[in-house]
Amino acid sequence: MTPATSLFSPVEADLLLLADNLKQLVGNGHPILCAAAEHLFGAGGKRIRPAIVLLISRATMLRQDITPRHRRLAEITEMIHTASLVHDDVVDESEMRRNVPTVHSLFGNRIAILAGDFLFAQSSWYLANLDNLEVVKLLSQVIMDLATGEIQQGLSRFDSSITIETYLNKSYYKTASLIANSAKAAGVLSEVSQEVTEHLYHYGRHIGLAFQIVDDILDFTSSADTLGKPASSDLKSGNLTAPVLFALEEQPYLEVLIEREFAQEGDLDQALSLIEDSQGLQRARELAAHHAHSAVEHIADLPPSDCRQALIKMADYVLSRLY
Ligand code: FPP
Ligand code: MG
Ligand code: MG
Repeated sequence: MTPATSLFSPVEADLLLLADNLKQLVGNGHPILCAAAEHLFGAGGKRIRPAIVLLISRATMLRQDITPRHRRLAEITEMIHTASLVHDDVVDESEMRRNVPTVHSLFGNRIAILAGDFLFAQSSWYLANLDNLEVVKLLSQVIMDLATGEIQQGLSRFDSSITIETYLNKSYYKTASLIANSAKAAGVLSEVSQEVTEHLYHYGRHIGLAFQIVDDILDFTSSADTLGKPASSDLKSGNLTAPVLFALEEQPYLEVLIEREFAQEGDLDQALSLIEDSQGLQRARELAAHHAHSAVEHIADLPPSDCRQALIKMADYVLSRLY
């Protein structure tokens, strides 16, 4: 789903410039990436992460224009996100993303790994060139967190004993860290107070968690066509998300099916019915709403502006993907 244009309208021109810049920065960098650049940074992505960075940049600069550093931070954020997806599709053996074939399915695993490595390396280079040590530390932490989250998830496949806290912790590493730390970095570049940068961090953290929980619900409730990738793929691959963890509290047989890794015919369908017949999806929706609402509390003290309003609406948009 494309975010309502009105939501991003205060930074629409910035996002167009960002798309052009990314294609140039990446495509010119290496011949391997020329073909992949158009594919990676063309239409299809929601650009939520750079939109948040740009909205926060404008909301904290107010009467002054945003700087080239703010723009570069938004580009770095999208580059890191894209690199992680290129690697993720190799790890998950996913053939489709956003309804188009993934880099590894088009160009092979070797190119996909190199393309992801190159994007990470290039993002580090542009990051260092921002010449702001605090921002370098925030975004380097994100790259570590992405790898940590992916490792945690890989090690806990089909482990029905994981708690909702473990799930949220992993979701922070996988998804929320990037949004939280880049939101904070935008505030750092605007030279706002430490109190404000902490609020921006928590805004990003809560939005990121809500976003991941919603994504995990949609994996159960949407069609492959809407998702742009196969449905129910999390459960099938043993990635136990919020709806499953809540359902496990009510449906003990679900544990049996998960622990034997859906080895017998009909196991996966039975597990899906047990989840549907539980409060799992509803409780996951409530958890997502809790995080979306908490996010908004953290930007209440920003001076009123179109951009602050858009950041508030972002919380509704994240939840609206469910309906
Ligand atoms: C998507 O999750 C994946 C991520 C958000 C992070 C992936 C991170 C890595 C593969 C590690 C990156 C490597 C380095 C060197 C830092 P998903 O598979 O649940 O979602 P999807 O349905 O969008 O594929
Ligand atoms: Mg994946
Ligand atoms: Mg994955």
